[in-house]
Amino acid sequence: TFLLQFFVGGNWKCNGTKDSISKLVTDLNSSTLEADVDVVVSPPFVYIDQVKNSLTDKIDIAAQNSWIGKGGAFTGEISIEQLKDIGCKWVILGHSERRHVIGEDDQFIGKKAAYALSQDVGVIACIGELLEEREGGKTFDVCFRQLKAYADVVPSWDKIVIAYEPVWAIGTGKVASPQQAQEVHQAVRDWLKTNVSADVASKTRIIYGGSVNGGNCAELAKEEDIDGFLVGGASLKGPEFATIINSVT
Ligand code: G3P
Repeated sequence: TFLLQFFVGGNWKCNGTKDSISKLVTDLNSSTLEADVDVVVSPPFVYIDQVKNSLTDKIDIAAQNSWIGKGGAFTGEISIEQLKDIGCKWVILGHSERRHVIGEDDQFIGKKAAYALSQDVGVIACIGELLEEREGGKTFDVCFRQLKAYADVVPSWDKIVIAYEPVWAIGTGKVASPQQAQEVHQAVRDWLKTNVSADVASKTRIIYGGSVNGGNCAELAKEEDIDGFLVGGASLKGPEFATIINSVT
């Protein structure tokens, strides 16, 4: 049994306005949250400063993306140095929407992860298979390939949280069953043990994302290798996100 501190992230994606975000922050600030859970929220870049200046300091901020290296002449990009400057402690990388909608590949994502970690920003490293990959029996191959791309370049695993997000479960309302998620989480932990070290395997949080909500989180949280969640849609509702945070078992 792994007794790792639960980690819950709210990925707001490209949603919100100044007003809706101000309401969400008010709701989060007035929620009672389990003390022993690491919580982060990930607002769109343009609202990070607003959130940082109004949200309880019990919740950290994760950016939704970052540039592969030091800032400079890279139009439209945001550097890790800038994210640190406005108080971000984490960045979400390798999200399926960046991989499959924007077209980022394993190597590009690996570079971003390595750079963020080199600057002491934690990485929520996402992995996950498409529906056709699952149906073709390739779930483990895909997840292990994506993991290897991180493992090949990261300087250390101390500040990495792995987020398993099966693409077919993201934003679809089709959550993975606790058994489906646990099977992959356990395989990921075994992969870390074999390919990185037993120490890293036992200390790295592996969180689940994909249609997590207030109604299904408790069952998922009971699984041995599910160490938290990365939540999309349900993280836009303060009370429901609090329920998910408090589902720690
Ligand atoms: O990063 C979280 C995410 O992709 C899951 O989204 O809306 O299915 O909870 P959702």
